[in-house]
This record gives sequence, structure tokens and C-alpha cells, in this order.
Amino acid sequence: MRVTMIGAGYVGLVSGACFADFGHTVTCVDKAPEKIEKLKNGIMPIYEPGLDDLVKENVDAGRLFFTTEAKDAVANSDVVFIAVGTPSRRGDGHADLSYVYAAAEEIADLMSGYTIVVTKSTVPVGTGDEVEAIIRKRRPDADFTVVSNPEFLREGAAIGDFKRPDRVVVGTDEERARAKMRELYRPLFLNETPILFTGRRTSELIKYAANAFLAMKITFINEVADLCERVGADVQEVARGIGLDNRIGRKFLNAGPGYGGSCFPKDTLALVRTAQEYKAPVRLIETTVEINDARKRAMASKIIAAMGGSVAGKAIAILGVTFKPETDDMRDAPSLDIIPALQAAGAQVRVFDPEGMEEAKHLLPGVEFREGAYQCVAGADAVVIITEWDEFRALDLARVKAAVKTPTLIDLRNIYTPAEVKAHGFTYVSIGRP
Ligand code: UDX
Repeated sequence: MRVTMIGAGYVGLVSGACFADFGHTVTCVDKAPEKIEKLKNGIMPIYEPGLDDLVKENVDAGRLFFTTEAKDAVANSDVVFIAVGTPSRRGDGHADLSYVYAAAEEIADLMSGYTIVVTKSTVPVGTGDEVEAIIRKRRPDADFTVVSNPEFLREGAAIGDFKRPDRVVVGTDEERARAKMRELYRPLFLNETPILFTGRRTSELIKYAANAFLAMKITFINEVADLCERVGADVQEVARGIGLDNRIGRKFLNAGPGYGGSCFPKDTLALVRTAQEYKAPVRLIETTVEINDARKRAMASKIIAAMGGSVAGKAIAILGVTFKPETDDMRDAPSLDIIPALQAAGAQVRVFDPEGMEEAKHLLPGVEFREGAYQCVAGADAVVIITEWDEFRALDLARVKAAVKTPTLIDLRNIYTPAEVKAHGFTYVSIGRP
């Protein structure tokens, strides 16, 4: 099949490369000429494990193309995906749909023959109807179906998530569109991936409900962690103890500094706004958003308390600033709340992150960026782990102890056990453990 991706951002690029790998002919279109130029030269605009090789293989095989010109690609495609950004609108938290609607207009003007227009971007309920109306208005004659097909890709594991998903959700009531979508995802059918066909509005809501539920699950365990600290219980064991109940499940029960990233903060807020608009408020999610925002800010106070109540003039080494490991993405990362608060309290902050420092440099003024974990901790009054990169999981603690000024380790991801850290002579503070 011939596929066009409008938007070569995170979702469009990963999805496009994976569809090409399934054997389809895919053209990724993006308005940013520098991004397309880089992609043509094999340079990835984002860090995602395995993406560069996947892109190269499929470009070499003649199945994957990059261009700034949508014209030929759209006219010749069976399926056109809208995979542009839907950022939070400044001020009210609603998803900003201007890029989605602009893409719909462009597709309307260019498509020919029966075309399936798929919203891959995360869009509020009813957006598919609006996209359909936009296209219909510009092209009353056109033969097309608008389908919702949300993505469930985790950054850092996106290719695996695309090729071995728990499920694929396709929202359309039209049988001929369903048949085409089945054909598009055929390799997954062969792997017996459940493909769920629903109405379009239902599919749009599934995406928000899934992300909101996961955000709520994380927030639940984070609050339990705070309770654990007060009552002298261990959140790791509580998480395991409840997670072994299949009805609850073990995943997404890791207590930490609060969720961040490009999806959970934006999508929970957008769901809250939609629900308020329809007068069916989702109070659990409203509360989740509030708790998570407050938690990220509270982490700075936790660090300051662990350092004896004052950080004025002290040096703090931060290991990891991205919102999670295996990505260079800094969007809504807890570090963006924590580090400025530490600086405001008078601390000198130095940072090391394996992939995120380029991004972080624009976002964290006044921070000293150091190359390597051991360089970062040298002379520090405390070491704080914010992101659980693998290379921080097995630090040579004796070497860290020898390098720091004061042996205090604050582990916001619980990647060490209290006993092993204390055995090296550190004061150790983690999340939700006695
Ligand atoms: C998420 C969804 O998982 C994915 O399905 C969706 O399509 C996009 O949003 P992503 O944002 O890439 O993916 O990362 P994810 O692994 O879900 O983590 C999100 C945030 O939650 C991170 O800040 C992470 O550190 C935090 N988290 C996750 C926890 O604090 N504890 C956990 O147990 C899991």
C-alpha cells in the first residue's frame, strides 16, 4: 500500500519507518526543510533507540521517502496519516488543533481516488468529525473516510511498541476503510495482535482514557509512597504486593518524582477540559493533574531537607534530566521544576545526562553541564538521581564516595537499595522507603 505521513515528528517518523518495514511504500512529509534535509542524510531529529538503522534500511530498500512537498505523495496514497503535534493550548490546556486542521485542508486539496485519512495525533473526541467536515467542505466530490487510529508508543521503546503492540485501535464504522486498515496492519494480524474496531469517537476517547488511567496509576503509587515514608513501610514491596494481583498488574507502579513527558501531562489536561466542556467532569483525573504538578515541585523541598534544610552555596550533582531514560526529550520533565527551585534556594547545580544535555542547555540556564557521571559528582555536597538511565544503576559507589565532598545520595527513582548505599558510607534518601 502507499502511505503518506503528514508530520515527521516523533509519532510520524516512528510510524512511517515501521509501516515501511512492514513492506508499504511510505512518504513522510514535514514543513521543516532542515528536518527533511537531515533525514535524507540519515540524521535523526530525535534520539530513539534503533530508529536510525530502521530508517536507513527502509530508505535503502526504496520504501521510505522524505519530502517537504505533500502534493505527489498525497495524490498517490491509499492512506494519509495526520501525525502533527497537538500541544496544550497556552492558557486553557485544550489541545491545540490548528496543525491538524491545516493538515486536513492540505490533504483535501491534494487527494485523488478513494483515500483514507487517519488521525494518528492524539485528538479530542469529535476531531475526526471536524476533519471530515473540513475535507467535505473543500472537496464535496471527494471519496474518502476519516479514521481514528491512536498511537500507544512509549518513547525509548517506540519501535518495539509499534511492532509488538498490546492492541491496535481503529475507529471507523465504514467497512471498506476497516478492510484497508486491516491490510495496512496485516503483519500484526499474523502475530495475533488484537485489532479493535470501534466507532471513531470511541477510538479517540480510548487514547485519552488509557493515558489518564496510567497517569492515575503512577500518581496512586506516588501518594502511597508518601504514606509509606510516614508509617515506616516500603513502597517497592507494597507495589509488588498489590501488583501481583492480576486485576491490578505490576506495571506503572514505580514511585518517583512525578510523571512527565510529551503525553501524560498534556493528555490528562486535555481530557479534563473536554470532560468539563461536556459537563461530565473527570474528578479523579483533575486530582491526578493537581497532585502530579505539586509533587514535581515538592521534590526540591525533599532534596533540601535531605541536605540539612539549606542548600545555599552548596553544590548539587544531578544525574539524569530527561523525563525518562532512553530519550533526549525534556518535555515536562520533573528536572525542569526541581533544578530551578534548587538554584532559587542558592544551590550550584551541575548536571550529567547521557542524551538530554543538548536539549537541556536551552531550558536550564545557570547549570553547569559535565561530561560523565563521575565528573558530575566530583566535589558535590549531594548527588541526586532524577532519571533512571541504565548507566546510573551500577555506579561504582566507592568511586563516587571518593569524588564527592559530602556522601549524600538522593535517589528519586529507587534504583538502589538502602543497605548497599549505606554500606558505602552514604546518607541515602529515596522514595517511599523507611
Ligand atoms: C506514554 C504512554 O506510555 C504511551 O502509551 C503513550 O502513547 C505516550 O505516553 P511516554 O510518555 O513515552 O509514553 O513514557 P512512559 O514510559 O509512559 O512514562 C511517562 C512518565 O511516567 C515518565 O515521566 C515516567 O518516568 C513516569 N513513570 C512511568 C513513573 O513515574 N512510574 C512508572 O511506573 C511508569
